[in-house]
Amino acid sequence: MTKTVWVLNGPNLNLLGTRQPEVYGHTTLADIKALCLATAERHGLAVEFRQTNSEGGLVDDIHAARAASAGAIIINAAAYTHTSVAVLDALLASELPVIEVHLSNIHRREAFRHTSYVSQAAHGVICGFGAAGYAMALDAVPSLIDTPGA
Ligand code: DQA
Repeated sequence: MTKTVWVLNGPNLNLLGTRQPEVYGHTTLADIKALCLATAERHGLAVEFRQTNSEGGLVDDIHAARAASAGAIIINAAAYTHTSVAVLDALLASELPVIEVHLSNIHRREAFRHTSYVSQAAHGVICGFGAAGYAMALDAVPSLIDTPGA
């Protein structure tokens, strides 16, 4: 059966392409969705791609991934990465493989971005590679599904 990877995006990522291009590049969220679909197809995976600007919306999306028995969650929680215990708790409750992605290298930026609640639930973290990080995360999914907990 085809596994579905839920790719979840947090606040302000709908503005990609025009938002601080010197930090986030010119790639739009629609471009990233297309990249995810093409990468997933190569691995025989399906993708559910979502974006929300609200913390509760992100929690609801994680609950939906859990209810759908997703193959894995790839999440760029954006600013909620650094603040949200609710997002962390939802990820822990999902008991799904989680990969955290950021376009920018959060460790080269302001100190408040160096802390990630999401990382507490993540199998791995990819940051600093721009949109390509989403494809890298999808490339990592088959091994996570085949050897959970590895
Ligand atoms: C981000 C990094 C976060 O610190 C920031 O709040 C974002 C985007 C990234 O993809 O680099 O909105 O998650």
